[in-house]
Amino acid sequence: MCFLDDVAKVLIPEDVLRARVRDLAGQINQTYTQEDFPLLVCILKGAFVFLADLIRHLNFRHEVDFMVISSYGSGTVSSGVVRILLDLERSIEGRHVLIVEDIIDTGRTMSYIIRNLQTRHPASLRVCTLLSKPSRREIEIPLDFVGFEIPDEFVVGYGLDFAEAYRNLPFIGVLKPEVIGMAP
Ligand code: PRP
Repeated sequence: MCFLDDVAKVLIPEDVLRARVRDLAGQINQTYTQEDFPLLVCILKGAFVFLADLIRHLNFRHEVDFMVISSYGSGTVSSGVVRILLDLERSIEGRHVLIVEDIIDTGRTMSYIIRNLQTRHPASLRVCTLLSKPSRREIEIPLDFVGFEIPDEFVVGYGLDFAEAYRNLPFIGVLKPEVIGMAP
């Protein structure tokens, strides 16, 4: 019995992900100059795989930093409670900031992050997300770079987890209902 048996279907295959990440990096390369020296803020944990692949296609000088944000707990639906568990190392005042996120669902987490970072007076603040679920949105978020719009399904892989597992899947997939305790 392999944990791959827990996957009901592959929503976004590895090669499609790879090509889209390269496209997004191309768009981001058009946006910043060497002089901008932007700070990429990776929202942990989910975005670490995406960030690692994305930055290898960027052709301008940049810096990375990390925030640990918790919103879901171990379930599959947002609790609505957003907490900063780890904050940025340094001030972002006057810096160009690009937030790198794995998924925007209700928008609560990103809304909180944007409001929080805006109070620190960055020179610019943009958002790059690999996945977006527009049908689930409760708070509208201005998104600058979006990899894929996906339907309202609970997805794992490429950094996204269920109860902290499955982040290592090289594709975006959907788990079997019985695995996430939602058997009919
Ligand atoms: C996920 C995701 C976003 C948030 C999106 O994080 O990475 O941060 O939920 O949901 P929302 O738009 O409804 O607020 P999660 O809390 O699962 O943590 P993780 O990244 O550590 O897995």
